[in-house]
Amino acid sequence: MTTPELQQAYSQAYGRPAEKIFFAPGRVNLIGEHTDYNGGCVFPCALSFGAWLLLSRNSDNVLRFRSLNMTDTYEIPIDAIRPQGNRAWCNYALGCIDIIMRRHPEAKLMSGYDLLYYGNVPAGAGLSSSAAMEVVTARAFTEEMDRKGAELPCGYTDDKAYRTELAKISQLCEREYAGVMCGIMDQFASAQGKKDHAIYLNCDTLEFEHVPVKLDGIKVVITNTHSPHHLDSGAYNDRVRQCQTAVEQISKVRPIKHLAELSEDDWAQVESAITDPIAKKRARHVVGEVARTAAAVEALKKGEIAYFGELMTASHVSLRDDYEVTGLQLDTLAEAAWQVDGVLGSRMTGGGFGGCTVSLVKDEAIERFKAFVGKEYEEKTGLKADFYVAEIGDGVMRLH
Ligand code: GLA
Repeated sequence: MTTPELQQAYSQAYGRPAEKIFFAPGRVNLIGEHTDYNGGCVFPCALSFGAWLLLSRNSDNVLRFRSLNMTDTYEIPIDAIRPQGNRAWCNYALGCIDIIMRRHPEAKLMSGYDLLYYGNVPAGAGLSSSAAMEVVTARAFTEEMDRKGAELPCGYTDDKAYRTELAKISQLCEREYAGVMCGIMDQFASAQGKKDHAIYLNCDTLEFEHVPVKLDGIKVVITNTHSPHHLDSGAYNDRVRQCQTAVEQISKVRPIKHLAELSEDDWAQVESAITDPIAKKRARHVVGEVARTAAAVEALKKGEIAYFGELMTASHVSLRDDYEVTGLQLDTLAEAAWQVDGVLGSRMTGGGFGGCTVSLVKDEAIERFKAFVGKEYEEKTGLKADFYVAEIGDGVMRLH
């Protein structure tokens, strides 16, 4: 939808135009999966699709929530901001507002608001529609609740530091209001994205670098499983716990804070300390994935795209065999992609258990790729896949 169309929808909902409009993108992760909450590196890009938030103040001291994607609406008094039951979608926004107030005691809601959300990230696709909603809310409400009137909200003078704070607020929202013990990758990518660049982020220190994604004659293609299993917070949180078990067991022979501290050589020395076989597999993935991510970033910088693709494929194999977060749908898509001439690499992206794959495909092979992967997928799963050529966009912004 265009901005004028969104304004029209806002006027229809609330009888007047919105005072402000904000946008935050979804993301696709090129490599570095399930490393963020293990203190490792990730390499995501912001996408051109995401979440929009239109708002105006009201004089009723309530937050009114509407979405063009959802039928449920909510009206929450501004002095009663707490999680709403039954998986209410407004939790992703309420959590951000609550956390802004906790982290920035000077920030106060000075009035109610009439809010309208719209998202075009395919739902359940593992492309961070929830992070986009959190980050757009954090961006809007840090500005709205700021009483200092400085150039950037919450007293920030540095745009990068401000955007990192938006990512932290949003990650806490996901943890506390949605119960997913996630790392910071998704929210960080949505906050710090840059057009035609990927973000090489160290999730321990939050230092990062924008790396140009220059792929001559090659596209980043996202394929959606449309699988009914989407990111299951239970299975995700299990992985987080299994990695903690591995850290505890390794720490008996060598104290570590995070699995990502271990190089592959260190791993050979400490792996026997992990007595739990599941925890050992999970840790082996993390150590290997951290090394692959660093190698992939170097390869991209040197223009060695074929090697980058091989590392993506190795990442999928490890997520399939050691981390066990792929499943029939994602494996079918990736394994079909590997067979297509002109595909440099293909892997699942995001949390797993359904969602999307990301592939590097030569321009001349794109139609062949879609036809072959689409056919294999339908034959093996009975589902239809969808393909999008990724456009790498900027991070959160105010549009109006
Ligand atoms: C989900 C989480 C992220 C990250 C990925 C896996 O997207 O929200 O924090 O852990 O899974 O890499």
